[in-house]
Amino acid sequence: MAFLDKHKAIETHATLLLVLSFLVVTIGGLVQIVPLFYLQNTIENVEGVRPYSPLELAGREIYIREGCYVCHSQMIRPMRDEVERYGHYSLAAESQYDHPFQWGSKRTGPDLARVGGKYSNLWHVEHLTNPEAVVPESVMPKYGFLLDRPLDGKYILDSMKANKLVGVPYTDEDLANAQADFAAQVDPDADTTGLMARYPKAVVANFDGVAGVSEMDALVAYLQVLGTMVDFSTFKPDASR
Ligand code: HEC
Repeated sequence: MAFLDKHKAIETHATLLLVLSFLVVTIGGLVQIVPLFYLQNTIENVEGVRPYSPLELAGREIYIREGCYVCHSQMIRPMRDEVERYGHYSLAAESQYDHPFQWGSKRTGPDLARVGGKYSNLWHVEHLTNPEAVVPESVMPKYGFLLDRPLDGKYILDSMKANKLVGVPYTDEDLANAQADFAAQVDPDADTTGLMARYPKAVVANFDGVAGVSEMDALVAYLQVLGTMVDFSTFKPDASR
């Protein structure tokens, strides 16, 4: 067949084959990758998802610094075993304000995408201080030193501004109140009306039971909000997508 004869010309010329393969792969790659540059169109907006409060954001940075993501994922896949164990599968929108996202790639410990509200604050402090005290077979390292490390929150405004630069919608009001919100979230006696209006469902508590803000306070505040922002009793996936 004439067609096959022409193909033979390609198969017997290494350079021609290479050039044409490269062309095909380039076009195929562009078709797959370019649409992803318009990410705004592919992430569904979901009610309840909000930027992290200043204290939660500080906790998230400690989570990253300590490498918790090396042993924990934050990504519940839509498979029955995962959903039954961890809860509703993770939505893209739930990590839209995570820079960088904490999906992780290994589970030495369980997934943490919905750990918020699963345990008390005290449980978290005890578990982080000495995991084996609450889960005897645990191989998780101890993080008790976080209790002894005060956080003055001076840098939190810079951190929020950096997040804003990459697309997290912190308002001028959020930024103006950064320091106050940071301190209010660990003080159950503080006026938290503004904090709760800006960051609904933020957990306000003196997490470690000691006055002042420690790295432990921040980390537990972060853990307690994970996966709690979306109300799954009313959530309906957008069927038009
Ligand atoms: C060397 C691996 C490892 C590292 C690093 C690690 N963990 Fe864990 N984690 C585990 C294991 C294993 C478990 C399960 C046993 C247990 O509950 O202690 C666990 C359990 C947990 C749980 C309880 C989850 C649940 O649903 O019961 C939380 C919360 C947690 N880890 C938080 C953290 C945080 C925060 C960090 C970082 C400061 C961290 N882990 C670092 C291995 C690790």
